Amino acid sequence: MSESQNLMEKIVSLCKRRGFVFQGSEIYGGLAGTWDYGPLGVALKKNIKDIWWNMFVESRDDMYGLDAAILMNPKVWEASGHVSGFSDPLVECKKCHHRFRADQLEDVTKCPDCGGGFGEVRQFNMMFKTEIGATEGAISYLRPETAGGIFVNFKNVVDSFHPKLPFGIGQIGKAFRNEIAPRDFVFRSREFEQMEVEYFVRPEAWEEAFEAWRKGVHAYNEAVGISSDAVHELEVADGDRAHYSKRTIDFEFDFPFGRKELYGLAYRTNFDLSAHQAGSAQDLSYKAEGEEPVVPHVIEPSFGVDRTILAVLTSAYTEDELGGETRTYLKFHPRVAPIKAAVSPLVKNKPHLVEKAREIYNDLKKQVPQIVWDDNGNIGKRYRRQDEIGTPWCITIDFDTLGETPELKDTVTVRDRDTGEQTRMPIAELSSFITSKISL
Ligand code: GAP
Repeated sequence: MSESQNLMEKIVSLCKRRGFVFQGSEIYGGLAGTWDYGPLGVALKKNIKDIWWNMFVESRDDMYGLDAAILMNPKVWEASGHVSGFSDPLVECKKCHHRFRADQLEDVTKCPDCGGGFGEVRQFNMMFKTEIGATEGAISYLRPETAGGIFVNFKNVVDSFHPKLPFGIGQIGKAFRNEIAPRDFVFRSREFEQMEVEYFVRPEAWEEAFEAWRKGVHAYNEAVGISSDAVHELEVADGDRAHYSKRTIDFEFDFPFGRKELYGLAYRTNFDLSAHQAGSAQDLSYKAEGEEPVVPHVIEPSFGVDRTILAVLTSAYTEDELGGETRTYLKFHPRVAPIKAAVSPLVKNKPHLVEKAREIYNDLKKQVPQIVWDDNGNIGKRYRRQDEIGTPWCITIDFDTLGETPELKDTVTVRDRDTGEQTRMPIAELSSFITSKISL
């Protein structure tokens, strides 16, 4: 087994063992391309989405948030080109009937599973179709990207908020693609989440906005603790871009299974708004006072939540030696760590010590909700367990906290995950210490 395969297996196994990510529908044998986020995975995901929302929506005056419906009028996807063109090339083995994406096969002449020959390559549309209500033939699709909902609400946001160009609309939500070959854990799944922005600009202002969003992508990576050395910009060449796009950058990441797309950033001209204007017969132009109406052009940064999680996990996964023992730990940035601190009494059999520890824990939890009470096992085992799930600090309440050494009364020990070092800190400073490390 290669080192990178090994790393991937270790990450997947840790995710399952410690309750980050489980196989979807596992007790029924699973459902390919689906993953369930467990208690720690949900907290990690929340942090990753909250940072994005904060950086790109809430903290800015030129951005508007949206949560559009997943089911949309099918005409949306006809106008956007998804019904006719959102497809991957599919081949089926004539012998074992396994299906593959033709563009991902190393040898297109024989089936990698049984050696059989393939039939014709055909285009397979990746949208999931579903029936609406009780009327036969009334179909819709599960959205294959969140962007469609943004374009469809452009006019609503303009009419209700009267924003000045340039401005953007951001949305986080589920997307569904009937991938022919879901693979590589949460990297390519059939149900996933996206964080997308459509940033509307005047045609002549696209380059400046594109550059600002290019920097924004790197700033976000840094904020969530994705190793910058492992992120690479790929300028998509003229012939490989969608015909309407004048510039596209794929942000690639060195995943354990190779360098693959993490996010995309595209200048899409006014292709989308023009297409929806034609499809809906509604005027989607923008009219500033004293200016000619314009159908705004758009810059689209598109982030996958699940790929962010995988890049964060890959960046954080660390094996080292501490105190003469080997250990595995997740070196999460405290901002994304699902648990910021574990609070423990030094021993469990001294009621007055436990009572004090509980009091400190309850007070701190009101200010920093992502903390846990942990009094399982001895302190060494607690540290290893918390290290493995990436908890940056372990807080221990001991007899000095109660005043055994008078000058240490009302202080606790704070043990740092990365160095293993312990420092004493006044109880009153715990909350500001943690919040100062996680604020943007
Ligand atoms: N609106 C543009 C758009 O959807 P995309 O490159 O198809 O562009 C954007 O998708 C991002 O969504 C990708 O960079 C990736 O992070 C994520 N993504 C796409 N397909 C995915 C899948 N099958 N599983 C997990 N994430 C996916």
